[in-house]
Amino acid sequence: MVSTAEKEIIRVDSINRVFQINKKESFQALKDINFTVNQGEFLSIMGPSGCGKSTLLYLLGGLDDPNSGKVYFNGKDLKTMSAKERSKLKCNSMGFIFQFYNLVPNLTVEDNIMLPLILDGKDTRKHRGKLDEILSTIDMVEKRKELPRNLSGGQQQRVAIARALVFEPELILADEPIGNLDSKNGTIVMELLQKINRELGTTIIQVTHSEEAAAYGTHIVHMKDGEIVKKAVVGDIE
Ligand SMILES: Nc1ncnc2c1ncn2[C@@H]1O[C@H](COP(=O)(O)OP(=O)(O)O)[C@@H](O)[C@H]1O
Ligand SMILES: [Mg+2]
Repeated sequence: MVSTAEKEIIRVDSINRVFQINKKESFQALKDINFTVNQGEFLSIMGPSGCGKSTLLYLLGGLDDPNSGKVYFNGKDLKTMSAKERSKLKCNSMGFIFQFYNLVPNLTVEDNIMLPLILDGKDTRKHRGKLDEILSTIDMVEKRKELPRNLSGGQQQRVAIARALVFEPELILADEPIGNLDSKNGTIVMELLQKINRELGTTIIQVTHSEEAAAYGTHIVHMKDGEIVKKAVVGDIE
């Protein structure tokens, strides 16, 4: 019997990403990348600045396309999906978290969290229970009516995480989620992501510079100059 923990959610098959700089010059940001992520994993993509981590993450989320190779989500080639199917996938099955939170400044905490539902035309009144649950998960019940500018960076990132959780995604993609936070807030955000991974079973793929942040996850992929140089399981002795 195959347990759900062994079911693959993402498969990357020989992807290359080449950016055309100008008519004559191009730059290969990703070179023949191959790996799989199973459901329930918490993978950290690590490597020096400019090695292609964000480029890879955006390809996994269907925010960009490879020049060659394939990205599969639950066995389905992203490229063969219609625009509608792909946008539904991004909205309902994936949650995105960025380094600079990307909250809407003139919306309260709760409206920022509900924004994906509002944009999807859902009646938010039907989702008040869900909102309360999420506010309590991120420990921000008392701040629900605040505007982002009255929150610390760590609190803003927790709101961004809550917004990513609204559709109960199978996969969360996070690009340097604690890159802009001090270590105390960084720890709170990493503990929250670990809790989401363990308790909700959400698969998480994060880009990070920090060994400490990677230690909250289950797997690590090390990159250099657009290539994967090493894959590791967290806790394994090297
Ligand atoms: N749209 C683009 N056009 C040209 N070059 C790009 C583009 N996006 C990224 N790059 C280049 O690709 C390389 C990898 O970028 P990126 O994935 O952002 O690195 P990382 O996230 O690891 O710091 C960098 O050299 C960057 O300058
Ligand atoms: Mg980056």
